Amino acid sequence: MLNTFQQARHPMLPSATHDEASRQEFSKSLKQFVQQGLLPGLQPVFTHRATQAFERAHGHAPKDRRDIRKAMEPDPYFQHYAALNRISQEMMWNSVIDSVERQLPDLIDNARKFSAQSKAELRLDADFVPPRYVTALDIHCMPGGYASEVTADDVSVAALYDRGAYLYGMGFAGPLNDDMGRSVCNYVKRNLPGFKPRRILDMGCTVGHSTLPYKTLFPDAEVWGIDVGGPVIRYAHARAAALGVDVNFAQMNAEKTDFEDGHFDLIVSHILLHETSGKAMPRIVRECHRLLSPGGYVIHADLPPFDLMSPFTQFILDNETWYNNEPFWGAMRELDQIQLAVDAGFPRDSVKFATAPMAILESAAEGAAGYTGDSTSAVAEREFTAGEFAPGGGWEVLVARKAVLA
Ligand SMILES: C[S@@+](CC[C@H](N)C(=O)[O-])C[C@H]1O[C@@H](n2cnc3c(N)ncnc32)[C@H](O)[C@@H]1O
Repeated sequence: MLNTFQQARHPMLPSATHDEASRQEFSKSLKQFVQQGLLPGLQPVFTHRATQAFERAHGHAPKDRRDIRKAMEPDPYFQHYAALNRISQEMMWNSVIDSVERQLPDLIDNARKFSAQSKAELRLDADFVPPRYVTALDIHCMPGGYASEVTADDVSVAALYDRGAYLYGMGFAGPLNDDMGRSVCNYVKRNLPGFKPRRILDMGCTVGHSTLPYKTLFPDAEVWGIDVGGPVIRYAHARAAALGVDVNFAQMNAEKTDFEDGHFDLIVSHILLHETSGKAMPRIVRECHRLLSPGGYVIHADLPPFDLMSPFTQFILDNETWYNNEPFWGAMRELDQIQLAVDAGFPRDSVKFATAPMAILESAAEGAAGYTGDSTSAVAEREFTAGEFAPGGGWEVLVARKAVLA
């Protein structure tokens, strides 16, 4: 358990009026209630009610997560939970949209101003076409997705994501929403001693939450974040500059980037892969192999495979596929990711799953060292236990190393 903090303010983050802030707090509290108040009730409902009804109808006990879904769907407790979960998600995005729309001209001006001050590169491509799996639906019900642009130099979906991601995580990712990046950095420090990457790539970086910690860990490295969304790349570059960090950002598709063979010593991603597709994911893993220098590492932090968890936990997590516009969420967990990496050219004995302990939980154990929000808002606001992304308090990482002699 730890106390989490308010989101750290920075000049790109939309601020909220009193009413907007109270709606945002309400949506976050509602999420908290669904997760901590309703979710724990699902297991007893399944064990003591839904299983029996399923057995009467089918003549056998529920075997896997699909049977469990069939058993739970008719149950009013589950229906109430699933509906409220979905409503809280929609309320959360809606609660931020007013702040973003009210301040959009200022946010765009700020992005221009901070980007102009940056020493790092910003590459946008006016002819870029984002993949269909990003544009075909509003992923995790975020209106506009990551790539919508409705005005010149638009950053609206990025500002929406920055604030919304904090509310969605209920603070678990830390004041700068950077826990995944910090946790993988800690993993690198502990498990790859002496490794000093000269060039680092973060694929699917969105607004750069997880990208910036790599520049802090390796200040001499050239760090790049890429994403298919123009607004998020624009915002990421300005946000990094506003926070005083020189990181380069480019609008590129991780399936096929513009970088040369062997350009990077370390490639990372954080919850990118489950938002792609069955066709894109093998391409991205192959592109990582092409882009790595001999002996370079790739680390993808994402969802643990289903076979590492009980059918009931699989069912719970798969609710994201069913009710939160995450079409690849469940299917991705069924892929043999180790084999995918081997097929892309990584030596089998270099590929493994590991756990990167959540930096925020570790720093709580150490008295919250290093996790302070800005001076005005670093207010401990609630107790937190590791949630569904990081069951047991760690991020799941797929690690592979390119052969030294390819
Ligand atoms: C859940 S967000 C990632 C969050 C981010 N990595 C972080 O740690 O805060 C997924 C991101 O992947 C991007 N994306 C999806 N497919 C991509 C692709 N083929 N190439 C690059 N980015 C992609 C989306 O636009 C979105 O910004």
